[in-house]
Amino acid sequence: MKAVKILFFFLCCLSSKLALSRHGRYHAIFNLGDSHSDTGNYPRTAAVAFQVIKSLPYGETFFQNATGRCSNGRLIVDFIAEAFGLPYLPPYLAVAKGPTVRTGVNFAVAGASAIDSSFFSAQNISLWTNDSLSVQLGWFKNLKSSLCTTKQECDKYFKKSLFLVGEIGENDYNFPALSGQSMKQLRALVPLVVGATTRTVSMLIEEGAVDLVVAGQLPVGCTSMFLTLFQSANVSAYDKRTGCLKTYNNFLKYHNKYLKQELQNLREQYPHARIIYADYYGAAMSIYRSPKKYGFYGGTPGACCGGGGPYNFNTTAVCGQTGATPCKDPSAFVDWDGIHFTESAYHHIAKGLIFGGFTSPPLLS
Ligand SMILES: *[C@@H]1O[C@H](CO)[C@@H](O)[C@H](O)[C@H]1NC(C)=O
Ligand SMILES: *[C@@H]1O[C@H](CO)[C@@H](O)[C@H](O)[C@H]1NC(C)=O
Ligand SMILES: *[C@@H]1O[C@H](CO)[C@@H](O)[C@H](O)[C@H]1NC(C)=O
Ligand SMILES: *[C@@H]1O[C@H](CO)[C@@H](O)[C@H](O)[C@H]1NC(C)=O
Ligand SMILES: *[C@@H]1O[C@H](CO)[C@@H](O)[C@H](O)[C@H]1NC(C)=O
Repeated sequence: MKAVKILFFFLCCLSSKLALSRHGRYHAIFNLGDSHSDTGNYPRTAAVAFQVIKSLPYGETFFQNATGRCSNGRLIVDFIAEAFGLPYLPPYLAVAKGPTVRTGVNFAVAGASAIDSSFFSAQNISLWTNDSLSVQLGWFKNLKSSLCTTKQECDKYFKKSLFLVGEIGENDYNFPALSGQSMKQLRALVPLVVGATTRTVSMLIEEGAVDLVVAGQLPVGCTSMFLTLFQSANVSAYDKRTGCLKTYNNFLKYHNKYLKQELQNLREQYPHARIIYADYYGAAMSIYRSPKKYGFYGGTPGACCGGGGPYNFNTTAVCGQTGATPCKDPSAFVDWDGIHFTESAYHHIAKGLIFGGFTSPPLLS
C-alpha cells in the first residue's frame, strides 16, 4: 500500500513538474501555414472560394461555432499551445489593428501556398488565396515592430518564442495535381516549394527566431478527396494495409526527404538555432495503419462530413453545403471533410509530435 502511495506520489509530481517546465518554456508561439493551422484568417480576407468554413458544422465539437478552422474543433497548433500552457493563437487579421498580443499570433491562411500565388496563376491554376508564405512573413514583420524595437530587445523576446512553419506546400501540389499535372511536373515543383519554405525559415532566424519547428507533408493520398478523385480500378494503386493511394503518398515522402536534407543545410548555416523537423506524415500514418487502436472505428477511409459516395466525398455536395451532413460521432473518424482531419485526429497527430517521437530533434528536450 505504502509502495503504491509512494509510486503514485512520484508519478503525479514528476509529471506535473514536467508540465510546469513545459509551461514556462515559451511565452509566445508564431505560426505560418495553410488550412491545417489557420485559426481564422481566411474568412477575414476578401477570398471567397471556401465560404463553407464560416458556418457550422465547422467548429461544432469544441467551439460550438465556426471559427474559421477547417475542422470540427481544435487543430495541431491549438494542442501545441495547450501543451506549452499558452492561449490559442488568434488569427493575425483579427488582432492586427488592436492592442498588441504578446503570447503569439497565427499567420496561416487556408489555401495558402509556399510559392507565391502568381507562379500558379501564370499557369492558369487559380489558388483559393494569394496569402502565400511571403505575404505571411510580411505580416510577421509588421507585427514585430509592435512587439519590440531594438535588436537586443527583439532577440530577447524571440529567444523565448516558438516558431511553427507549416505544414505548408500541400496546396502547391494539390491544385496542380487536381488540374491534371503529371507526377513529373509535380516533382519539378519540389525544389521550389522546399526553397520557399527554407527561405522563410532563414528569414525568421534573421529576425531573431531560435526555436523553429518545420513540418513535412501529410499523407494526402489517404484523404477521401484524393481517394475519390483519383479512384483506380487497378488494385496495385493502393497500399494493401491502409487503402491509401501509393503514388501520391510516395511523392509526398519524396518532398519530405528533400525538405529534411535542406533543413540539415540550414542547421549548419545557423548553428545557434534549433531547427526541428516535424514528421506529420509518420504521425498521421500511425493512425491510418491502426485506426481502431486510436478509437477510429468510423470510416477509415471515409469522411465524417460529406455528401455521399464510396468515401463520403462528393464535389457537388461538400461539407457545409446542402446535401452534405456531418456524422454523429466525429471522434470516431480520422477524416473530417474529405481533406482536413477531425479534431481527434489532429489531437493524435499533435500528441505524436509533442510526446511521441515524431519531431527531430525532439520538441521537448
Ligand atoms: C458564431 O460565429 C459567427 C460568425 O463566425 C458570429 O457572428 C457569432 O457571434 C458567433 N456566435 C457565438 C455564440 O460565438
Ligand atoms: C492560360 O489561359 C489563357 C486564356 O485561356 C491562354 O491564352 C494561355 O495560353 C494559358 N496559359 C497557359 C500557361 O496554359
Ligand atoms: C489574387 O491576385 C490576383 C492578381 O492580383 C487577383 O486577380 C485575384 O483575384 C487574387 N485572388 C484572390 C483569391 O484573392
Ligand atoms: C497497375 O499498376 C501497376 C503499378 O502502378 C502497373 O505496373 C500495372 O501495369 C497496372 N496494371 C494495369 C492493368 O493497368
Ligand atoms: C452527390 O451529391 C449530389 C447533390 O446532393 C447528389 O445528387 C448525388 O447523388 C451525390 N453523389 C453520390 C455518389 O452520393
